[in-house]
Amino acid sequence: MNISVQDVSSIMVLTGAGISAESGVPTFRGEDGLWRQYRAEELATPRAFYRDPKLVWEWYDWRRGLIGGCQPNQAHRTLVEIEARFEDFVLVTQNVDGLHSLAGSRKIVELHGNIWRMRCTQMCRPSWEDRSAVLRALPPRCPSCGEMARPDVVWFGEVLPGEAIETADTAARRCQLMLVIGTSALVQPAASIPLLALQSGATVVEFNPQPTPLSDHVDITVREPAAESLPRWWARWLVES
Ligand code: OAD
Repeated sequence: MNISVQDVSSIMVLTGAGISAESGVPTFRGEDGLWRQYRAEELATPRAFYRDPKLVWEWYDWRRGLIGGCQPNQAHRTLVEIEARFEDFVLVTQNVDGLHSLAGSRKIVELHGNIWRMRCTQMCRPSWEDRSAVLRALPPRCPSCGEMARPDVVWFGEVLPGEAIETADTAARRCQLMLVIGTSALVQPAASIPLLALQSGATVVEFNPQPTPLSDHVDITVREPAAESLPRWWARWLVES
């Protein structure tokens, strides 16, 4: 690393499905990735939901069950340590699995929502958390107005939560160091966030066993699974600093 821990006052992290792969959560585009087995347009669009809400909810219920049995791994835990070390820290995730908060991370921006939250399709109240292992009736109903509830996640064709994307953009322009962990960098606008950081002069480190469209642009690429490589990288950086 060309900078030491003491020289960095502002750090940002962007994570994708790969950081949870070693926890047992399937990625989207890997070998056993969800989008290799299912068609996104049949399960993760507003159109698909209103055509067949029960089918879409069954898929989310299956994923909730799967994720519910997963625990954070060493990469999630290392990010908690990193957060404790830097005052100006933001963790931006595309993941909806909630494993960062389970690990103990605090400053989390969820760009694509959270699978453990639901919201009313009539927007009669703020979204709410529901961690039931199995949802009794599908589709679930809004407890306030009785209308259909939907997962509080971002589907294809939907706009990202404005505050989340603004926070991510600002952090990217401000940070001195950005860690990009386990994302294929194919889905916008998240994929452009590291480019903003690079343009603003930040050092960007990518952790991913596979090359991505970002790889040629970043300063350092660590081509190994994150649960092994991130703790090792962090320990080495501390020693070198
Ligand atoms: P992808 O499934 O597209 O990419 C996962 C990335 O993680 C790949 O580049 C893998 O090489 C890498 N990877 C796999 N195992 C890893 C490991 N152990 N350590 C580090 N990296 C590993 O997932 P995302 O980039 O998160 O959006 O996908 C972005 C968005 O596309 C998702 O948030 C989701 C999806 O459609 C929505 O649902 C809106």
